[in-house]
Amino acid sequence: MRKLPTYTMTSTILVTGGTGFIGSHATVALQQAGYSVVILDNLCNSNPSVIEGIERITGTRPAFVQGDVRNAQTLDTVFTRHAIHAVMHFAGLKAVGESTQIPLAYYDNNIYGSIQLLSAMQRANVRTFIFSSSATVYGNPTTLPIPESHPRSATNPYGHSKLVVEDILESLYASEPGWRIARLRYFNPVGAHPSGLIGETPQGIPNNLMPYVAQVAAGKREKLQIFGNDYNTPDGTGVRDYIHVTDLAEGHVAALRYCEKADQDMLTVNLGTGEGYSVLDMVAAFKAASGRPIPYEITKRRPGDVASCWADTTLAKQKLGWAATKGIKEMCEDAWHWETRRTMPG
Ligand SMILES: NC(=O)c1ccc[n+]([C@@H]2O[C@H](COP(=O)([O-])OP(=O)(O)OC[C@H]3O[C@@H](n4cnc5c(N)ncnc54)[C@H](O)[C@@H]3O)[C@@H](O)[C@H]2O)c1
Repeated sequence: MRKLPTYTMTSTILVTGGTGFIGSHATVALQQAGYSVVILDNLCNSNPSVIEGIERITGTRPAFVQGDVRNAQTLDTVFTRHAIHAVMHFAGLKAVGESTQIPLAYYDNNIYGSIQLLSAMQRANVRTFIFSSSATVYGNPTTLPIPESHPRSATNPYGHSKLVVEDILESLYASEPGWRIARLRYFNPVGAHPSGLIGETPQGIPNNLMPYVAQVAAGKREKLQIFGNDYNTPDGTGVRDYIHVTDLAEGHVAALRYCEKADQDMLTVNLGTGEGYSVLDMVAAFKAASGRPIPYEITKRRPGDVASCWADTTLAKQKLGWAATKGIKEMCEDAWHWETRRTMPG
């Protein structure tokens, strides 16, 4: 793999949750953009072998600290040992369904974890923060595409935890000068690095469509359940804004660069493609990418699911000069490449 040139003045970025799905791709994008990365992850939903994948792609091994963002001492040690310039905060729990069963774990991890991290940043005088928010904060969208000004609401503890951290960031920004904060609202991240060396590794039954479809195509699951085909959409199935995870990762680098240029600022921006695809569109695209049949059955709607959701991407283009470049063909091809490389070697 290609070795990066040596930079004499590298900025070091702390990436919490950096061995997870999105954090690992952001680490690759950061290293390829010339940044040094320190990953902090407690490995509750990831594997340290991801570090090898990152190293093989970029030629550089990120520093890795196994630890929890809720641990103040761990955080202080990280900030003391490394000259951190900015923090990208991916660490957290993310399953909507699970959050209704163990809400305290979600509030503890996602809200208390963020407070601990921001407090450690204050102690270390680091004030550039990029936060993983979500389109889930738009609740049941009343306008499409969804602009950042759309009213926010939450219907489950996961969504609520994102709303609260967004609010905490607003209060913090108003309370003292010098903060440079980006609240990035992701739509539906899918796909994997085109090398097939890093990707999404769901534990147990996947919560999201794409990893589930990949497992059906691989013959690991019998069929896909499609929750409802009576929505007010072209084919009746739910429509979402899927974004390739490498595009999303580049969006983070763009947000970091934006923050670096400001004396202080707080930016809230959608990261999506601005296009919506139905479940059946995604099934057809994955079938074409994998050459495998994808059996499915239609079942009843899942409570809490919305009919359609896609991003207004105007602000991201305007402020960050960033737009997604990859379509659903590449998303499905890369997800399939990762699935086959990871679980069907040879
Ligand atoms: N994947 C999505 O569909 C999606 C959509 C919108 C927002 N997000 C947000 O993006 C972020 C990253 O999501 P992802 O899909 O990469 O999830 P992921 O589970 O793959 O990655 C999260 C990582 O954080 C680590 N982690 C969790 N709690 C921790 C803690 N207390 N201390 C240290 N490490 C901890 C996990 O081990 C994991 O490696 C999350 O905050 C998530 O809520 C994800």
